[in-house]
Amino acid sequence: MDTLGKTITCLAAIAWKTNSSLSLEEVQVEPPKAGEVRIKMISTGICGSDDHAIKGIIPLKYPFIPGHEGAGLVESIGEGVSSVKPGDKVLTLIVPQCRECSACLNPKGNFCEKQDILPSSGLMLDGTSRFTCKGEKIYHSFRTSTFSEYTVVPEISVVKIDAAAPMDKICVISCEVPTGYGAAVHSAKVTPGSTCVVFGLGGIGSAIVMGCKASGASRIIGVDINEEKFPRARALGVTDCLNPSNLKKPVQEAVKEMTGTGVDFAFEAIGLAETMVAAWDSCHVSHGVCIITGVSPPNSKFSLSAQTVSTGRTLKGVCLGGSAVFCCSEIPNNEKCKDILGEFIPFLFHLPDCSSAVKRAAKIWKCSVIVKMKQVHLEFNSNKIAS
Ligand SMILES: NC(=O)c1ccc[n+]([C@@H]2O[C@H](COP(=O)([O-])OP(=O)(O)OC[C@H]3O[C@@H](n4cnc5c(N)ncnc54)[C@H](O)[C@@H]3O)[C@@H](O)[C@H]2O)c1
Ligand SMILES: [Zn+2]
Ligand SMILES: [Zn+2]
Repeated sequence: MDTLGKTITCLAAIAWKTNSSLSLEEVQVEPPKAGEVRIKMISTGICGSDDHAIKGIIPLKYPFIPGHEGAGLVESIGEGVSSVKPGDKVLTLIVPQCRECSACLNPKGNFCEKQDILPSSGLMLDGTSRFTCKGEKIYHSFRTSTFSEYTVVPEISVVKIDAAAPMDKICVISCEVPTGYGAAVHSAKVTPGSTCVVFGLGGIGSAIVMGCKASGASRIIGVDINEEKFPRARALGVTDCLNPSNLKKPVQEAVKEMTGTGVDFAFEAIGLAETMVAAWDSCHVSHGVCIITGVSPPNSKFSLSAQTVSTGRTLKGVCLGGSAVFCCSEIPNNEKCKDILGEFIPFLFHLPDCSSAVKRAAKIWKCSVIVKMKQVHLEFNSNKIAS
């Protein structure tokens, strides 16, 4: 069916209000305007940041279509788009790369000024939305909204990937893998023989563990309140597992006792002020590096003992692994990337089950929860989603 220049009616998951179950709705997706790309989504991962958005921890405008870890095919492009063409395989980017703002022009960071996360307008760059449902305007999330069979994103929020990319799995390369792996490899620069602690063994924490192991860390302590995460974490490289709920002392004291001096590298991948402080306090007093990847609720603050700062350790935040070019067209051909993806055994859900997928994502090793758009057998969209 020729959809070029036309509004497409398809299925999408909508969060109508804070902390509600997602509901599957028929939505209208307008054609892309200048500088925009319309994508037929093939699969999307579920990241902790989607969970935060649905729960209101990252404040978004309601109603919105969640999702940012997407893999799909370009359906059509707006005027002036040059980096992708219809039929290209692409990933969506939660943090765009405009390549001209003060953040993009500095190699030390990647939090592009054109991002729509903190704060979020829920709208495209021209201040309008491309989605409607039952005549009502629906907001975008992070200008990606991948929980839809079709979505529209700015060209700067899309990256072309190799034609051989496995579209059922590659979506996790869009956020969780580069965030966690990059935090260890690019941002912390974990060194061979070093000791590490990872707070939170979900999607991001698992990818951090992979990065620490790949960097040659000799000891990786994994901390989580959900012990169901431990077997998988051990398989990925965690050498010691700690459940803070079972400890009689603060977890940072346990980490210090286990290592004698505190760890060389500590990572926080939960998004809570108290675990950020625990990560900091777990570090070696002189050269320890504490990396924060978790996103906290608005107005959340933490305080550190001022004396613990002047001894030399480093506190660092990191966005999407700290690298502007991690998501690039070579990734699917890169041997290391193939190894990383090989660790993923996806739990597949289909779009109608997205709400249960989000609930399940909170319970299991979440990198592996992927929602597939295709195989949604509903009469009105069967033409558009043939695989
Ligand atoms: N900085 C970035 O670029 C970036 C990118 C993606 C996600 N994030 C953020 O990273 C964080 C983690 O995301 P995720 O996808 O891994 O989420 P996740 O839900 O998969 O993992 C979180 C883990 O933390 C554990 N946990 C919760 N409370 C805990 C506590 N008090 N002590 C110990 N463990 C606890 C949970 O059991 C779970 O295993 C979120 O805050 C998310 O928004 C940041
Ligand atoms: Zn994410
Ligand atoms: Zn920019």
